[in-house]
Amino acid sequence: MIKLIVMSLTRLNVLVTGAAGFIGSHLSERLLEAGHLVIGVDCFSDYYDESFKRKNIKPLLQNHSFTLFEDDLSNMNCPELVDGIDAVIHLAAQPGVRNSWGDYFQVYAQNNIVVTQRLLEACSGSSIKRFVFASSSSVYGDSPDLPLTEDSPVIPVSPYGVTKLAAEKLCYLYHKNFDVPTLSLRYFTVFGPRQRADMAFHRFLKTAMENGAINIFGDGTQTRDFTYVDDIVAGTLAAMESPRARIGSVYNLGGGNRKSVNEVIDIMKEVTGKDIRVNYEPSEKGDVIDTLSDSARAQRDLDFSPATSLVDGIRKEYEWVLNHYRS
Ligand code: NAD
Ligand code: UGA
Repeated sequence: MIKLIVMSLTRLNVLVTGAAGFIGSHLSERLLEAGHLVIGVDCFSDYYDESFKRKNIKPLLQNHSFTLFEDDLSNMNCPELVDGIDAVIHLAAQPGVRNSWGDYFQVYAQNNIVVTQRLLEACSGSSIKRFVFASSSSVYGDSPDLPLTEDSPVIPVSPYGVTKLAAEKLCYLYHKNFDVPTLSLRYFTVFGPRQRADMAFHRFLKTAMENGAINIFGDGTQTRDFTYVDDIVAGTLAAMESPRARIGSVYNLGGGNRKSVNEVIDIMKEVTGKDIRVNYEPSEKGDVIDTLSDSARAQRDLDFSPATSLVDGIRKEYEWVLNHYRS
């Protein structure tokens, strides 16, 4: 306990995997602002245009408290990497629900399961004080009851969700058997500036900017508990620092912004001032129907209190889209 209170006051060496990505770049910025030293790792995978990641990481590279290893965690010497590290925040992964079928699954299995096990193995016997793993609401699949609590059934409906659940289980095993101080956070559909190019809001807002037509998978009545990226970052930092966080457990981090995709389009019409055209396409395999987080556990232990509304967050993401594509 005393060790953890001291931890929240001192300058930590924090390893952030996936530091050039959407969430990783925001998180690294916040860690640096809080005075920590950040060691970032990213292989700049080509899942979406690498130039986004180069742009995300550029300001971080100006900061003397930030070091980047541009490398793939599959091949790195992980024991050497975690030597002297106080906390690991493990975000590096192959994300994306709908692309995880077929031959591409091996990329998911490698980056989400094997890489996580390599890092956990390296951390066993090390002096790290927290290992925070970025899991996903996709572990729940189509649960019959909403809201989803951490005790709801976990029956993923996408191969991606299977890999995230496997990695969560590995975190638990390394905690139980080797005292690695792990925590898993189940993020619910994250949005905001720098959102991945394959994700709905990024695609929709870019298409609106270009006066194009949006493709909706299914009839648009599917719902998500959308979560603004700053709220995800705040919850993740609390998981790293809070003495009340329960090691070995999982936490939902959901924004409290549950809306259907059709409702999102209506908000986007208002925010962009565009009359967005929509094509309805067949629904995609692996997509869950609804998500809604019960985040009471995170509120209790991590003071998680999401602050950004859907309309404010969409406005900020649209500003970013305009700047990004017009500069
Ligand atoms: P992202 O793709 O923008 O970031 C992940 C980064 O990890 C990328 O920059 C990629 O190059 C890097 N990476 C992948 N494999 C690597 C490897 N083997 N070695 C080194 N680097 C590697 O994705 P994101 O949306 O920022 O997601 C971050 C994390 O949060 C992921 O674990 C994702 O599964 C999880 N998550 C995201 C969301 C969301 O809505 N964005 C929701 C739930 C969970
Ligand atoms: C997102 C992330 O992409 C996953 O990495 C993450 O693990 C997951 O959230 C999570 O919460 O765990 P998803 O909810 O599918 O997955 O997020 P989006 O890609 O933004 O899609 C949201 C909704 O919009 C889905 O129902 C999707 O079918 C729909 N969509 C997406 C469209 O109708 N059209 C598109 O072009 C893209």
